[in-house]
Amino acid sequence: LHVNWDISAAEKAGYKHFMQKEIFEQPRTVADTISGFSSQINEDLYNTVVNADRIYIIACGTSYHAGLVGKFWIEKFAKIPVEVDYASEYRYRDKIINDKTVIIGISQSGETADTRFALIDAQKEGAKTIGIVNVVGSSLSREADYTLYTYCGPEIGVAATKTFTAQLIVLLLFALELGLKKNTITKDLYEDLQQKILSIPSKIEKILLKEKSIKDIAYKYMNASDFLFLGRNINYPIALEGALKLKEISYIHAEGYPAGEMKHGPIALIDDKLPVVALAPMDKFYEKMISNIQEVKARKGKLIAVATEGDENIKELVDDIIYIPKTEDELYPILTVVPLQLLSYHIATLLGKDVDQPRNLAKTVTVE
Ligand code: G6P
Repeated sequence: LHVNWDISAAEKAGYKHFMQKEIFEQPRTVADTISGFSSQINEDLYNTVVNADRIYIIACGTSYHAGLVGKFWIEKFAKIPVEVDYASEYRYRDKIINDKTVIIGISQSGETADTRFALIDAQKEGAKTIGIVNVVGSSLSREADYTLYTYCGPEIGVAATKTFTAQLIVLLLFALELGLKKNTITKDLYEDLQQKILSIPSKIEKILLKEKSIKDIAYKYMNASDFLFLGRNINYPIALEGALKLKEISYIHAEGYPAGEMKHGPIALIDDKLPVVALAPMDKFYEKMISNIQEVKARKGKLIAVATEGDENIKELVDDIIYIPKTEDELYPILTVVPLQLLSYHIATLLGKDVDQPRNLAKTVTVE
């Protein structure tokens, strides 16, 4: 008996591309990363960070965007000042480091040269270092003083998806743990958020069910030459990530911007050809986002909103809506990014691009 066996198709488990498979794995990878987190708790690690007077998060690409969200959580829950920097920039900065400085290097692969060397340099100057890494035994996991893992399994698609949401989970759980240790959050808030975090995988599941309608939106806008992504506060890094995903795999020029900063430049770009993706969940910045949306609408920009289920009001302001389930303000980034992954995936595949192996990009950049 001879069976024709296509190993690559088998590995994709029925999905067309690794990227699509990895987007759909997120309910599981997020759940695995939540359950894998507590076993990594180490008193020594917590004491080091609890006593830190400053944290630097360094990373590249998508991991850098996870770091930007992590800054909000650590500052909010643990009240430790955080700076986030591209590893290639941080490395050549005049560093201000003492024995109370903690460096968190975030890297899916654990092999990105810029991130590794920035961390090693800071370590030599006396900083304590933590790696947030997906690949077990990778260089960064061996070089850092402590390692926190994301539990995603191998990520094959060049554009990071499931490792991003898992990095967010690690940063969030870490920030909450620090907050509890430092007494900067109440036990009640801690427990309440832990409960809400447990429902994230099923909420991602619900978003994934909207793939068909997201594909329709992709079809409508696939020929645009530029995109603008807007978000505020904790969802601003998600606007950056949405723009990066689209650029990477569809080669459409895209910019992510803090919505409040739009009036200082990007507003000049808006015309009836520009799709603007507005992250407008029902959080405390909702009203402000709505006024930014009105500013875009007044200039005839095409609006695609990511909004919270039940928000009927937004319907009359925008051209297309992708609804996401309601959650706590602080947890929205883990949800708002998912429709953006699917949107760029479908735009790129409709354009016939090779989403798993985009031109000029490498999964892991091991040179400076
Ligand atoms: C490359 C990949 C990106 C990734 C970045 C950082 O540029 O194409 O998808 O976000 O490296 O990778 P790392 O493994 O350090 O997270």
